[in-house]
Amino acid sequence: MTGALDGKSAIITGAATGIGRATALAFARAGARLTLVDVRTEELERTAAEVRDAGGHAASVTADLARPEDCAAIVAAAVRAAAQATGVARATGSAAVPS
Ligand SMILES: NC(=O)c1ccc[n+]([C@@H]2O[C@H](COP(=O)([O-])OP(=O)(O)OC[C@H]3O[C@@H](n4cnc5c(N)ncnc54)[C@H](O)[C@@H]3O)[C@@H](O)[C@H]2O)c1
Repeated sequence: MTGALDGKSAIITGAATGIGRATALAFARAGARLTLVDVRTEELERTAAEVRDAGGHAASVTADLARPEDCAAIVAAAVRAAAQATGVARATGSAAVPS
């Protein structure tokens, strides 16, 4: 995958479904290295697999954006995955978070 985001990396929250998933696939098609985030692990892994199957790069982090410590872990994971995050696409919903 090559394109306008070659050499860029991005964190995409809410990446399991909907806008976040679509953003992940679009960013990957454009060449970005991705750190994908959601509270729903199974669906998140499905998005990450779709990106990788299409030739993209995606690390996934199960995290709750409502928890500050999770947010710090997301950034740390992004730095590990891509050395530097150059963008954030925030598509997290406000629906109830599973307990
Ligand atoms: N779909 C639309 O047409 C539309 C239009 C305008 C605004 N929005 C807003 O955009 C956002 C995304 O919409 P969508 O349709 O993709 O929703 P969606 O429900 O398909 O996706 C939201 C994702 O966010 C995740 N999420 C929710 N709370 C989280 C948390 N605390 N930590 C981590 N992940 C969390 C969910 O698990 C889900 O995968 C929502 O806030 C929605 O209200 C959507």
